Amino acid sequence: SHTLLAGHLADAFADAHGLESSDLLARTSKEKWLKWKEEHQPTETLAPYDTGTGKLFGNHDTIGTLAIDTCGTMAGACSTSGMAWKVPGRVGDSPIIGHGLYVDPKRGAATATGHGELISGICSSFLVVELMGRGATPIEAIQEMLQRVASSYEITPEHQVACIAMTPDSQFAAGALRAGFSYVVYQDGPAKVMNPEFVLNS
Ligand code: GLY
Repeated sequence: SHTLLAGHLADAFADAHGLESSDLLARTSKEKWLKWKEEHQPTETLAPYDTGTGKLFGNHDTIGTLAIDTCGTMAGACSTSGMAWKVPGRVGDSPIIGHGLYVDPKRGAATATGHGELISGICSSFLVVELMGRGATPIEAIQEMLQRVASSYEITPEHQVACIAMTPDSQFAAGALRAGFSYVVYQDGPAKVMNPEFVLNS
């Protein structure tokens, strides 16, 4: 009956249920944030971005994981600090079911990383799983999702969206809007770092 709670009343709910509170902000991150706050307006959300190299300065660190066991039971998880320099109160894609993560035992699983607003706007993970449920392979489903992102938004050089997906019969793939994303596969042996099978703007 409580799918998603946010803000101070979520804290109160956690306290009422005996969940331990702790400060997760690292000292170095706090120092960077205080310096950024001195130089910017609180409503600014643009991440520090190097126009020369096109690289973001530590804006994203979302990790998504999909797993399947030998009985075919699927699971998924994602973890994020959100987006650096976000406005207070922002809720990103990661905690919202179907946006940053979706697992349906009959259709498959998907998880996304990158700019939460682009991912949320088209319910990316749900879309990928739904497409696989209708017969698309993981790579076809990811490709269609990324094309939907690209055609729905004015994509700028600092935007990135990447996704991994898996079917209930263990087919999997990854894709990204642009280069720079890699993923890890662990299957019967040492973990392998892989390049995505599809990059929209390579
Ligand atoms: N993908 C993490 C976020 O934008 O919050």
